Amino acid sequence: MGRKFFVGGNWKMNGTKESIDKIVDFLTKGPLDPNTEVVVGVSPCYLEYVRSKLPQTIGVAAQNCYKADSGAFTGEICPAMIKDCGCEWVILGHSERRNVFGETDQLIGEKVGFALKQGLKVVPCIGEQLEEREAGKTTEVCFRQLKAIADNVSDWSKVVIAYEPVWAIGTGKTASPEQAQEVHAAIRNWLAENVSAEVAESTRILYGGSVSAGNCRELAACPDIDGSLVGGASLKPDFVQIINATQ
Ligand code: 13P
Repeated sequence: MGRKFFVGGNWKMNGTKESIDKIVDFLTKGPLDPNTEVVVGVSPCYLEYVRSKLPQTIGVAAQNCYKADSGAFTGEICPAMIKDCGCEWVILGHSERRNVFGETDQLIGEKVGFALKQGLKVVPCIGEQLEEREAGKTTEVCFRQLKAIADNVSDWSKVVIAYEPVWAIGTGKTASPEQAQEVHAAIRNWLAENVSAEVAESTRILYGGSVSAGNCRELAACPDIDGSLVGGASLKPDFVQIINATQ
């Protein structure tokens, strides 16, 4: 069994019911390649709304959650709440969580472990900053972030890794297919050496960072790129072309 192509839309802190209705409309009309798994990441206040509007073939994710099942954690949501809204995915460790909100490798690893134990499927994100790339530390940083995640994963069939170089996020500066493929291959090799050959072979690794209708096909053609995690372009009808990038 090959790895099913996967396209995630990360809406970040965007959306109103009115703008969400427009996205639901173009996603419902598609047509979407049935060979692509599609999941959209939405703000917690719209999880239930989006779930009630989208076709069941499209998954809905929260963009974050905490590592406890209830309690005095003002402002946080837990995996059980995400499931109670009818959703089954969560994105964790996005670079904005790491770099704007100061989440550490350890916290992200713990969140991944907890979300999986609570029955969610998880898209953990990793990726280097520009200074780290320029200092030749890309794989060192990615492997450190990945280890903190992998230490908490028992069932890899519920995990889809997103590699998102921070310098490519929201900047219009996509990694070239060669740059992205090089890191994806290194991540897969890390999984083979540190987890198992089977997990390395079966785990999907997404690329994220300025993915657009214009560059999605050449990225999707790389052997170790199994899809994309899309920010800005996932709010626009172009997202349908990105979903259909392997057709
Ligand atoms: P952009 O596609 O807007 O660069 O965002 C990428 C991203 O952060 C997806 O999680």
